[in-house]
Amino acid sequence: MDDVARSTTYPQPLNSLTIPVDAPLVESPAVMAPEIPAYLQETYYWCYLNPRNVKLLDREFVVRTILWQQHRKLQKLAFSEIRAGQSVLQPASVYGSFAPNLAAHIGPEGSLDVVDVAEVQVLSARGKLREYPFATVHHANIVNFTGGPFDVVCCYFLLHEVPDVYKYRIVNLLLDKVNPGDKVVFVDYHKPRWWHPLKLNTSIVFDTLEPFAKSLWRNEIREFASESEQFHWYKETCFGGLFQKVVATRRN
Ligand SMILES: C[S@@+](CC[C@H](N)C(=O)[O-])C[C@H]1O[C@@H](n2cnc3c(N)ncnc32)[C@H](O)[C@@H]1O
Repeated sequence: MDDVARSTTYPQPLNSLTIPVDAPLVESPAVMAPEIPAYLQETYYWCYLNPRNVKLLDREFVVRTILWQQHRKLQKLAFSEIRAGQSVLQPASVYGSFAPNLAAHIGPEGSLDVVDVAEVQVLSARGKLREYPFATVHHANIVNFTGGPFDVVCCYFLLHEVPDVYKYRIVNLLLDKVNPGDKVVFVDYHKPRWWHPLKLNTSIVFDTLEPFAKSLWRNEIREFASESEQFHWYKETCFGGLFQKVVATRRN
């Protein structure tokens, strides 16, 4: 059974944030919390769903450490594709101050929409974005998100955490969210050069904790797009090839 099919097996509590007090007692899919995908429940529960750990881990130094102190540079690379005043979609929460930094970068003439499937992440992101009224955090699975279109989509370290079947769905959904001239920015892992001193460490971490990440060592992100010819693709790597930025701009 593939991961998408299995993702329907976890019972979820109703999302109290989205249910009006006078809601009818009949259960409606419109007011149900999104189901947690199986890959998230089984592989990433400890770091993204366990409320106590989320509280501990949702800090800037954690992201910096995980990303070998390259987080600021990578964030800058992502933000360099985004101008003040644009409408931006961030298709998953990121620990630390990424979302508030992005909101500050966009400014009040623009808008930021963050989507996350985990309620605990949604609450945390809402807290961090309290000072930015033009930022909205949606509780949804990104593959079912109906908002948009957006000037820019900024997908930061989400793809390596999802199975390939989800990579296809997410990449195509995000590409669908932009009009001609607009772009989707992916920042994520990439296969490091053979001599990279951190290649072995990264490989061991991926083999033990991140089973879907090495797919980005073997495949180009554009290969997950079903209509890739409708986009102009730009790719650059950094830190000895360990990270990549890929920008897909929809052709006119
Ligand atoms: C962006 S990724 C990791 C980013 C980065 N490594 C960090 O340190 O935060 C983690 C987030 O993606 C969310 N997520 C995973 N699959 C998702 C999906 N299908 N739709 C929306 N959010 C998803 C998780 O709930 C989690 O909050």
